[in-house]
Amino acid sequence: MSKVTVVGAGKYGSTTVQRLAEADVIDEVVMIDIVDGLPQGLALDMNQSRPVLGYRTLVTGTNDYADTAGSDVVVITAGLPRKPGMSRMDLLGVNAKIVKTVTEEVVAYSPDCVIIVVTNPLDQMTTLAADVSGFPKERVIGQAGMLDSARLAHFISEKVDVDVLLVKAVTLGSHGPTMVPVPSLCEIDGKPMTEVLDAETIDELVDRTRGGGAEIVAFLKTGSAYYAPSAAAAAMVEAVITDSGAEMPVCAWMTGEYGIDGVYLGVLAKLGAGGVTGVTEVALTEEEAAGLLEAANAVKAKVADLEEIDF
Ligand code: APR
Repeated sequence: MSKVTVVGAGKYGSTTVQRLAEADVIDEVVMIDIVDGLPQGLALDMNQSRPVLGYRTLVTGTNDYADTAGSDVVVITAGLPRKPGMSRMDLLGVNAKIVKTVTEEVVAYSPDCVIIVVTNPLDQMTTLAADVSGFPKERVIGQAGMLDSARLAHFISEKVDVDVLLVKAVTLGSHGPTMVPVPSLCEIDGKPMTEVLDAETIDELVDRTRGGGAEIVAFLKTGSAYYAPSAAAAAMVEAVITDSGAEMPVCAWMTGEYGIDGVYLGVLAKLGAGGVTGVTEVALTEEEAAGLLEAANAVKAKVADLEEIDF
């Protein structure tokens, strides 16, 4: 009997639940939120789509952590988006309190689970969930790299007018300004991207990817992206639940890979039943390796901000 919990029944959380249910590889998906009735109503609606779409996974909507007991994987999406007038530290303070409380509840009921964090600011929230849970670091993972890589692949496919499924794109590092694109690993229809596109075009696509979330927010005006983000989170959950060993860019704990230690960073890693089953060290150009080191230092500096929060 496999069980996954998604904390937060907002846009990101509920779409992740829907994707997981429709994949039909999990027995039960629990959706929990603090808003009374929201997860219950969404769950009922989703369950009624089962006869139409032909899948069996049952979704349970709840406000009670007892219903999450014994989950194999827990995805944490709970948190607020940044509002006008709110500083970065204000947002950090609000979401850190939410993620801390949520993690304590999750761990009390599912002491053996794998936690996947998506709440922003991602690097800090992943670090916080790992610290609060006391779990071995491989059992706490953040989602960012899958999304950035998917965004870059989409932009490449549009630019060169090639089937999106023939594009391979890899981004490492952090989410946002210190995202590290890895052109040397990107391929277009089996050819190295660097042979198909000039440096200027690659830079343009990378810049658009770095600002990929903001571009969508500017269109939506309220709220942020959730279709591609939920696809990325669901892919991570499925790899853990099916113990597939699939390799993907995720925010994982570094233990000396690329000469980097003691920080959560976006790298290629294999995911399986225990969470991260191995970080893959790929050959990077000098510039890419320097970018990764810079991203690691930036995350370390951001994590230090957590100490200023009065929990
Ligand atoms: N426990 C459970 N749920 C909570 C809690 C809590 N302590 N606090 C807030 N929530 C819920 C809210 O009630 C809301 O339903 O989290 C949900 C957040 O949903 P949205 O506002 O729609 O935000 P969403 O777009 O889903 O993004 C969630 O993911 O990408 C990140 O930056 C984004 O941090 C944000 C998170």
